[in-house]
Amino acid sequence: MQRKKLAVAVLLAAMTAMPAFAAEEKHQEDGKYLTKDDVPTYNVKEDGTVDWYTYSGFRRYHSECHVCHGPDGLGSSYAPALADTMKTTEYADFLYIVAAGREKITASQVSKMPGFGDNKNVSCYMDDIYVYLMARADGAIPRGRPKKRDAKPATAKAYEEECYEG
Ligand code: HEC
Repeated sequence: MQRKKLAVAVLLAAMTAMPAFAAEEKHQEDGKYLTKDDVPTYNVKEDGTVDWYTYSGFRRYHSECHVCHGPDGLGSSYAPALADTMKTTEYADFLYIVAAGREKITASQVSKMPGFGDNKNVSCYMDDIYVYLMARADGAIPRGRPKKRDAKPATAKAYEEECYEG
């Protein structure tokens, strides 16, 4: 009896501690959200407002990637659904694949992901596209253009200018 009560108390304590714990796992620097390991991540507020980078990623994805990977990351007969594959893709691998491209050749077909390392409309927005796709992979945002977004942070403007100049 005593033991059971203790177990319940411990469970309740763990449950109430959880939201605070989850909040601690990500932090932000001028509107850019990062995990505790400093990997870029998305943020969606209760009313559906997304952080700037997630919104920007939506736009970049739909100008450069959706022709092959389908709208909303859902895939096509030609290229995989990134809303699925991103569930198991590490940040570093994503950066590498998108910059360098990838080719799979089998007896019956060639599957080719072009490299975007030299395309600034992609390379200047790698993190944006990454966090957008992670939000889709985690089911944190629905299909379509996010209806509300945070204002563009000064850091994002500065980074963009520097990236296009360099
Ligand atoms: C011309 C068509 C095409 C475009 C445009 C394209 N991709 Fe791809 N992508 C592919 C194909 C095909 C594959 C599968 C390659 C393979 O089989 O190895 C792929 C694979 C990938 C993968 C690896 C998926 C996995 O299986 O783990 C990532 C990540 C990816 N693409 C991201 C992007 C992003 C981000 C963009 C936009 C900047 C983009 N792709 C634009 C065709 C494309």
